[in-house]
Amino acid sequence: KRSKVAALLATTEIDREVLVKGWVRTKRGNKFVSFIALNDGSTINNIQLVADAEKFSEDSLREVTTGACIAASGILVASQGKGQTVEIQVNNIEVLGAADPEKYPLQKKGHSLEFLREIAHLRPRTNTFGAVLRMRHAMAFAVHKYFNDHGFYYVHTPIITGSDAEGAGQMFQVTTLDPANPPKTETGEVDYTEDFFGKQTNLTVSGQLEGEVAAMALGQIYTFGPTFRAENSNTTRHLAEFWMIEPEMAFADLTDNMDSAEEFLKFLVMYALNNCKDDLQFLNDMYDKELLNRLNFVVQNSFQRLEYTEAIEILKSAKQKFEFPVEWGTDLQSEHERYLVEKHFKKPVILINYPKHIKAFYMKQNEDGKTVRAMDVLFPGIGEIIGGSQREENYEKLAQRIQEMGIHEEELWWYLELRKFGTAPHAGYGLGFERLMLFVTGMGNIRDVIPFPRFPKSAEF
Ligand code: 4AD
Ligand code: MG
Repeated sequence: KRSKVAALLATTEIDREVLVKGWVRTKRGNKFVSFIALNDGSTINNIQLVADAEKFSEDSLREVTTGACIAASGILVASQGKGQTVEIQVNNIEVLGAADPEKYPLQKKGHSLEFLREIAHLRPRTNTFGAVLRMRHAMAFAVHKYFNDHGFYYVHTPIITGSDAEGAGQMFQVTTLDPANPPKTETGEVDYTEDFFGKQTNLTVSGQLEGEVAAMALGQIYTFGPTFRAENSNTTRHLAEFWMIEPEMAFADLTDNMDSAEEFLKFLVMYALNNCKDDLQFLNDMYDKELLNRLNFVVQNSFQRLEYTEAIEILKSAKQKFEFPVEWGTDLQSEHERYLVEKHFKKPVILINYPKHIKAFYMKQNEDGKTVRAMDVLFPGIGEIIGGSQREENYEKLAQRIQEMGIHEEELWWYLELRKFGTAPHAGYGLGFERLMLFVTGMGNIRDVIPFPRFPKSAEF
């Protein structure tokens, strides 16, 4: 039976027969012995296979090269060498799949992240992407654990939808009509009644609106699924397809929302620190010597809570020159967000009460008539990691806002009905899963924290 390398490296039960299967990272040696470093994905660490020349001729190991997949059995023994406590004295090696050394792209030498992006089918075999993918799994699991432990239900919201949840028009259309020759109405517009769903549909930009439906019945829910945005994704912080976690809470206001977001983020970072030690240490040493310090800092310190209006004052009196000047009413750019977090407060910031005209239609309006109960959580090195708000629960006010913003009311009749039948104060937020992954891995580009990144002109895989 196959053992996982992670389990073998952690065991004290030695001097027994074991079988491992995995991919060769390196082979070195002399005329007496060969050392093969084997990785099976269960840990960033390799297990050392020791093949004596008496048993293994040079020719029998010819196909045991970097990248090859092998099965090896032998005796697990204490290691004399430094860097590992155990190793396998191998008796048998079977090559399951060779990898031609002339052609296999991932030879020993380091590779740039840009190069690895072009071989998305092989990059999971590098230390970096092994670490990132194991941590992605750990973070997804932690998300479910947190909400399950706090009485939230996981709700599946649709991928194909007829509504624009953010009202920002950044949607990928889904259609069965012939794009070259769509049916037209008498007035010359595309006739969507002939489309599969009988109306214009798109890939979801957010599960929030459907999440609110569920929260108005189950109390506390969350969604966790892929979302799609046809916006400028040519940055290190944007993807056209990303995963979002969206909790929604009945009977919650903006303060509850802030408390929840802060506790949730701290839990996730803490989970990474406790459960991803080897991978984190590797990423810390390899890319970003401040990574562990930064993660520890976030769990140990409270976030700065701040009104948008106060943030504008701070930015206006900043010595730093910004590319985009700020005035009350302007949307903050990432240079402004990062100034507040990294230079001014030197800790995560929760910004609230933004001008209503720069935020989505569903946010609850404040009494001042100018601002809404929005909430953005800003993180060091990232900028916005969470966006959320208390929702407008008043039917008339919501209907009026929808009209003012020129949104088609017919599309949102069901959303409005939630305010007609048993409405309640409620709030929620969206955490960009890949922004979280950027933070916990310390990676610099969002394309390197998702297995198959979608960005303009990228859909090769
Ligand atoms: O601020 P956003 O647009 O908010 C919403 O979608 C709300 N419906 C959430 C809610 O209240 N339930 O997006 C939420 C988060 C952002 O803070 C960011 O972390 C992430 O989603 N995000 C992206 N991540 C990667 N690529 C993109 N193009 C992203 N756009 C948003
Ligand atoms: Mg936002």
